[in-house]
Amino acid sequence: MKAQMESPGFKGLSLAEVQEINAEMSHYENKMAASIEALKIVQKHRRWVSDACLVAVAELLEMSPAQLEGVATFYNLIYRQPVGKTVIHYCNSVTCWMLGAETIRERLCQYLNVKLGEISADGEYTVLPIVCLGACDHAPVVMVGNQLKLDLTDNAVNEILER
Ligand code: FES
Repeated sequence: MKAQMESPGFKGLSLAEVQEINAEMSHYENKMAASIEALKIVQKHRRWVSDACLVAVAELLEMSPAQLEGVATFYNLIYRQPVGKTVIHYCNSVTCWMLGAETIRERLCQYLNVKLGEISADGEYTVLPIVCLGACDHAPVVMVGNQLKLDLTDNAVNEILER
């Protein structure tokens, strides 16, 4: 493990990523406990987690790629495909769905000229669904980056993109 600390990176991960992941792992007795944070670190540097990065992180954490893939799949804010600079998550759980989430998605995708999961031509946005964001009393709700947009109206596209 010491050799990994001294290397310029690790199997495609940058030195900064490896150092941050090692620092995170040092907080836990079991390295696997750092798996979500390790994936977040890679995502912070690259916006998404490629297969190659996932394999490298799994090796650092001494777990199998399949185990780490399971974590990445469970945690729906880890992106396993490239995304735009800002990810717009629209809540498609029941309350938001009843109050127009699908219409918001349609208008947003139409405005940005993307399908779900695609990156807009300017590289700025990706639209993805997400389960309940815990703000059902303010449905319909969208999360733009880390920011919740509540009580969206017919003017949702403008409200989401703050135009
Ligand atoms: S159903 Fe959308 S925030 Fe709960």
